[in-house]
Amino acid sequence: MTHRQSLLTIALTAMAASASQAETPAYLNPDAPLETRVEDALSRMTLEEKVALCHAQSKFSSPGVARLGIPELWMSDGPHGVRAEINWNDWGYSNWTNDSITAFPALTALAATWNPDLAALYGKSVGEEARYREKDILLGPGVNIYRTPLNGRNFEYMGEDPYLAGEMAVPYIKELQKNGVAACVKHFALNNQETWRGSIDVDLSDRALYEIYLPAFKKAVEEGGAWSIMGAYNQFGGQHCCHNSRLLNDILRGEWGFDGAVVTDWGGAHDTKEAALNGLDIEMGSYTNGLTSESNFGYDDYYLARPYLEMIKSGEVPESTVDEKARNILRLIFRTAMNTEKPFGSKCTPEHYAAAKLIGDESVVLLKNSGILPLDGSKYGSILVVGDNAVRRLTDGGGSSELKVQDYVSPLAALQTLWGDKVKFAQGYMAGRPMYEHEEVIPEAVQDSLRAEAVAMAKDADLVIFFGGLNKNAWQDCESTDRREYDLPFGQNRLIEDLIAANPNIVIANITGNAYAMPWADKVPAILHASYLGTMGGATMADVLSGAVNPSGKLPYSIPFRIEDNAAHSFGEASYPGIETVDADGRKHQKQTYSEDILVGYRWHDTKKIPARYAFGHGLSYTTFVLGKPSASSKELNADGTLSVSIPVTNTGTRTGAEVVQLYISELKPSLMRPEKELKSFEKVYLAPGETKTVTFTIDPSMLAFFDADAHAWKTQPGRFRAIIANTSAGKKSPSVDFTLK
Ligand code: BGC
Repeated sequence: MTHRQSLLTIALTAMAASASQAETPAYLNPDAPLETRVEDALSRMTLEEKVALCHAQSKFSSPGVARLGIPELWMSDGPHGVRAEINWNDWGYSNWTNDSITAFPALTALAATWNPDLAALYGKSVGEEARYREKDILLGPGVNIYRTPLNGRNFEYMGEDPYLAGEMAVPYIKELQKNGVAACVKHFALNNQETWRGSIDVDLSDRALYEIYLPAFKKAVEEGGAWSIMGAYNQFGGQHCCHNSRLLNDILRGEWGFDGAVVTDWGGAHDTKEAALNGLDIEMGSYTNGLTSESNFGYDDYYLARPYLEMIKSGEVPESTVDEKARNILRLIFRTAMNTEKPFGSKCTPEHYAAAKLIGDESVVLLKNSGILPLDGSKYGSILVVGDNAVRRLTDGGGSSELKVQDYVSPLAALQTLWGDKVKFAQGYMAGRPMYEHEEVIPEAVQDSLRAEAVAMAKDADLVIFFGGLNKNAWQDCESTDRREYDLPFGQNRLIEDLIAANPNIVIANITGNAYAMPWADKVPAILHASYLGTMGGATMADVLSGAVNPSGKLPYSIPFRIEDNAAHSFGEASYPGIETVDADGRKHQKQTYSEDILVGYRWHDTKKIPARYAFGHGLSYTTFVLGKPSASSKELNADGTLSVSIPVTNTGTRTGAEVVQLYISELKPSLMRPEKELKSFEKVYLAPGETKTVTFTIDPSMLAFFDADAHAWKTQPGRFRAIIANTSAGKKSPSVDFTLK
């Protein structure tokens, strides 16, 4: 029996005895309707007890109502595994010996699989680990849109396309929550950079908000049924997102009917009255930033603690506000901590390792291959592995998503297992320890000598495999800081060029949560692009290199040639990272405008005819696929009808593989600005050599709609449209069919 279950039993027994009544109170009856339980519990609570529900009691928990046997809520990061235990009152790790877990691939890897079944497997597996660790809320998944490759947290999100992100988030959430563990979808909304994340005020059109930045959240709420959502640090419309009237009252609750709890990002609350009135339920992480400040600011000083109680008592805000919050929180508690149906959970099982491996396997993107891949190890007398990411534990660092793994397979270890001691290693460059908001400066002389050593060894090797990319250091793929440059860090470009000169038989196998410049791309025979793959990452990389796994990942974001080719960066500082001003009182303000509007990612590259080096949706295989001739069920679509488009897909190569068939829709002569085309559906098909399968997409008018800001509604207009069926967003001669919307 868990601690919480025993609490429940004690409370039950005590209540039954004191009331000397046989009947169980409705709120303790798991068979009673949820709203009946909520109202019954609420009716028994004092004002103080209701307010207490609304703020943290420790770094990662919020109180229940002990008197009534209502347990506290325990939360954990998220989103790639269950984070190690954190101290009650500061950010230090508690150093438990039983909290190491499975690290699953980063969400950007999940998105690169384009396989919603794997998103379900991910949610199920991470949910079981969360349950085992007795967590009620897992802080994830993140569905913020990839707007710039410099965002330090892109690896925690699911790429640049709202449809893809939403399709992947929904199964993750549903399966996670079957464990009685709430998803906490983050960061709502417009948290698309880490620079000035706590204060930047984002300005954008309603159309961009509704077409690009909200749809994945909406799907997570409406289709995924997320039980909680995390407010973002930044501001929107001059108000912090954690108590933003428009985002939380109007959109989340008003338009989407969200009945779960809104949790702040840690330290994201700034004002009691706004928090009281604008839809926030649970305040976490304010003030207690470690031992230095906690003596000054206890949990009772939180905006939604004593100051809130006083405001209610003085009548400044109505008591109904706390009733509403308590309802949302009780609902969350009944769904999680008091969920009597929930399973026990498990961690680091063979099934979880297999799930992590499978997700990783399907996520690796083969950007380029002249035929050198897959590698036949027996062909090479000596293989040199170069690069820090071949040995670095990439689950360390990165901020709140950092994980304490029980096991970790590095690429070097996996390749040595595969091919033995003919695999040699040279570090090539030093990246320093992963630290939060700090970086270790490596003397140039050290980098020079590591590079010289690797280049010398490359000359003697039959094959070089380079494992570089980004890592989880500050100013790389790490929370709180954006990247400083689009180039690879730590002198990797120079190193790669020198390695190519020393030995052109080189395969680039980079691991990264972001796009980066590849000035050497034309000079290397093959490039693999992987995201952070967690516990089993090295095994995946070895299997993809050797061909045991045929790559089938597709880019969930564009890789521009230059940073200036990215939409957000095309409009200068006012667009990214924003402009800072100082007011008469010396206070600093930062503001940015999303001038690219709805043209994010491939929508920009396509519409503005600025090709990306590797396009959204691109990814090769060791086999080849041919998309045949599409056929449509009709040439016309009625406003209330549907139309289907079918296309045969054939594996024309010699290996079993998978292709992601992508449906983009384009309006041929739009009366208003529209992206050249937009992703509206996709399906991953698995084919044996010579096999053909037919993929059928159903098109309905909602796929042709745009958001009309004046009418505040989605609208369609009669017109001509093109359904493009492709295996990359950059397909020049992709099959297509035209049709009319009547
Ligand atoms: C991050 C959140 C995270 C929270 C708790 C914040 O700094 O932005 O994503 O869940 O900390 O660790």
